[in-house]
Amino acid sequence: MKHYQSHSLLSHNTFGFLVSCSDFYQYEKKEELIELYNEGVFRGQWLPIGDGSNLLIKNDLDYPVIQSNIKTLEVIENSEKKCLVYVGAGVVWDDFVQWAITQQLGGVENLSLIPGRVGASPVQNIGAYGVEAKDVIRRVEVYDTKENRFRVIEAIDCAFEYRGSLFKKEKQLIVVGVTYELIKAPYYELKLDYGNVREVLQGLDTITLQDVRNAIVDIRMSKLPLPSEIGSAGSFFKNPVVSKTEFERLQQDYPTVPFYEVTDGYKIPAAWLISQCGWKGKNIGAAGVYEKQPLILVNRGGATGDDVLFLMKQIQLSVKDRFAIQLHPEVCLIQ
Ligand code: EPU
Repeated sequence: MKHYQSHSLLSHNTFGFLVSCSDFYQYEKKEELIELYNEGVFRGQWLPIGDGSNLLIKNDLDYPVIQSNIKTLEVIENSEKKCLVYVGAGVVWDDFVQWAITQQLGGVENLSLIPGRVGASPVQNIGAYGVEAKDVIRRVEVYDTKENRFRVIEAIDCAFEYRGSLFKKEKQLIVVGVTYELIKAPYYELKLDYGNVREVLQGLDTITLQDVRNAIVDIRMSKLPLPSEIGSAGSFFKNPVVSKTEFERLQQDYPTVPFYEVTDGYKIPAAWLISQCGWKGKNIGAAGVYEKQPLILVNRGGATGDDVLFLMKQIQLSVKDRFAIQLHPEVCLIQ
C-alpha cells in the first residue's frame, strides 16, 4: 500500500482544482483495508476515491483519501451464453469495456469512454446511451469499514436507481470489486435506439461490438469535453423527473419541451432547461457552461470549487424561476 502525506489532489479530480488532502492511501489488495482499520483511519472522516471524475472537492481535505488500485480481472464463470467477470475496483472503467469487446462479450459497449474506475460503476450506477451499470452488475463486493469485514451484495439488494444506489447512502461501504454478467457472441443484443447511435452506424452490414464502441466514442468526443483538456465532472446535474400534472403544465407553456416517459413521471433533459435559460457557453469568472453540452460545467482555467458552486446556484435559481423545477447535482459535493 502506498501512503502519501499532504498530497495534491490535482491529478485526482477531473475538474482540475488545486486541492490537497492530509493523507492519501492507495491500496493494491483488499486486505490492506484491514490494516487501515487497525490504524484507526475509519474512525474519523475519510473519502474513497476512484479517478475523481464525479467529485467537486471544494477545499483542502484535512482527512484521508483512499484509492483502490486493485487491478484484478478474472472470468469466474463461463457458460454457453454468459460469462461472469470479477473486476477489481481499481481497474480503469474504459479498459474493462475494451477488454470485454476484445473478448466478444456484450453488455458494456454503450458505456464506452465513461471516465473513472470500476469501483464507481455501482455507486452512481453509471449510464449512457440506453444502458446503465445495473443492467450488467450481478453482485458487488464491499468492505464494511464499521464492521471490519467483507460482504457480497447481490444486485437485487443494491437499490439501484438513476445515478444512485445503496452505496451512495451507506457511506461506510467501500466497493472493492464488481461481478458483471456479460453476454457472449452471438447471443448479445445491441442497444442502438438511444439518440443518434443507429444513425452513426448507418451503412454497416453487420454491426460488431467494436463498431458500437467506435460510434459511442465518436458521439461522446463530439459533445463532451475530454477531462485531459477541459476540467469537468461530466454531467453536473441529474435530469429532473416531474409528475404528469407538472409535465402537462410545462408542455402547455413550452410545446417543444423534450421528454422521456419513465416509471415515476416524465424525465426532462436538464440540458434543455439550462439552454432555455440562456446559459449555454456562458461563464461566471473561470467557471463555465460547456457550449456543446450545457449539462456540463467546466473549469475554464484556474476555477475553484466555490466558483463552480456559485455558477451551479445561479443556474438552479434561473431554472427554478422559469420552470418551477429544482435541478439537483449529479456530481458529489465534497466539503
Ligand atoms: N439537449 C439540449 N441542448 C443541448 C444538449 C442536449 O436541449 O445542448 C437536450 C436534447 O433534447 C437532447 C437531450 O438534452 O435530446 C438529451 O441530451 P443527451 O443525449 O446529450 O443526454 P443528457 O440527458 O444530457 C445523459 C447523461 C450523460 C450521458 C448521456 C447519453 C445524465 C445526468 N447524463 O445526458 O451522462 O452520456 O445521457 O446517454 O443522465 C454523466 O453522467 O456524466 C454523463 C455525461
